[in-house]
Amino acid sequence: MELLDFRPTLMLPHSFSNVPIQNISHQENISGTVLNNRYAIQKVLGRGGIGLTYLAFDSHRFNDVCVIKEFAPVFQETEQFNKLRDLFIREAKILYQLEHPQIPKFYACFQSQERLFLVQEYIKGESYSKLFQQQLKQGQTFSESEIMIWLKNVLPILDYIHQRGIVHRDISPDNILKSAAGNLPILIDFGVGKQSNFSTQEITNNSINQSHTPTLVGKTGYAPWEQLALGQCFPCSDLYSLGVTAIVLLTGKQPTQLIDDSLQWQWRDHTKVSDAFAQIIEQFVAYNPQQRYQSAQEALTALNSLHTTSIKSVYFKSYSSPKPKIEKPKLLNSASTSDRLAVQFTKYYQDEYKFALF
Ligand SMILES: Nc1ncnc2c1ncn2[C@@H]1O[C@H](COP(=O)(O)OP(=O)(O)OP(=O)(O)O)[C@@H](O)[C@H]1O
Ligand SMILES: [Mg+2]
Repeated sequence: MELLDFRPTLMLPHSFSNVPIQNISHQENISGTVLNNRYAIQKVLGRGGIGLTYLAFDSHRFNDVCVIKEFAPVFQETEQFNKLRDLFIREAKILYQLEHPQIPKFYACFQSQERLFLVQEYIKGESYSKLFQQQLKQGQTFSESEIMIWLKNVLPILDYIHQRGIVHRDISPDNILKSAAGNLPILIDFGVGKQSNFSTQEITNNSINQSHTPTLVGKTGYAPWEQLALGQCFPCSDLYSLGVTAIVLLTGKQPTQLIDDSLQWQWRDHTKVSDAFAQIIEQFVAYNPQQRYQSAQEALTALNSLHTTSIKSVYFKSYSSPKPKIEKPKLLNSASTSDRLAVQFTKYYQDEYKFALF
């Protein structure tokens, strides 16, 4: 394995998401701009890896609010530009295929003055990162029962996309909104979703196709090692990120504050949850992909079977409080290298970074 070759590239200090919005020329005086003789931009909602996100009014739909993503990468070097453009178009195709009440509807993709745009349904609501901040300000975090319900509401979305061969690859509190109508979680930001034909068996057999140069995208702390170091994604990679998101919402801490030098999650002391629930969360975030739940459905079944168990374990908590023994997963030959890489990488980047390796 030539994993060490990844390191210099991984250390590229590029974080698209940290580029200040005011540096983006497109953004200047953007409010009021009409695109395609149809969409009146109101404001910028965000600046991500491959584009800007705007709030706009659609004059062909009675000025209904919509969200427009513009392909506007920070790096304009041709090879990178083309790869990023592919990612952007991939988002359009992915959204087009999906029809789920907890995924924004895709409306259109258009080009205007050589700029590429994607129009999607606007979801009224707050992101879980905002809700999390609001909770923290009040000295609170999400409770076990809130996160239990939340997971049961998010997992069907993952089940839906995974069944269609799509791995989201960027699950985090930023990319899950709580809809004002119905309170259900809505999964957004499919810019880095990708069709996945891998099974976790392939990774454990060390049979990763080395001639394939992966495009790595993910958020440090949320993305599992196989995604960050190898560019390999499975449904259980999304489940890992969802587990990290649950831990963050439960503890009020960022992932980098909760993972130790041996890449074990140390989160139990920061929140009060039943042992049975904690064991399920631990399985979401197991280091070894094969030790995680292999499907959203499997995770849902575990959560659903918890109801009676968790009542018992809360009831008897004072009599049976030892922490669950989480066996350290047997690392693959390759994993020990990527383990070290990931530790170095996490230490190097203290903040949350979104990065792409091309
Ligand atoms: N469909 C939507 N409805 C309501 N708000 C949205 C929607 N899509 C995005 N947003 C808002 O815009 C912000 C940025 O959008 P999004 O997460 O899609 O892109 P990003 O993270 O900035 O970029 P990238 O696509 O490169 O990851 C979100 O955090 C959210 O607040
Ligand atoms: Mg996002």
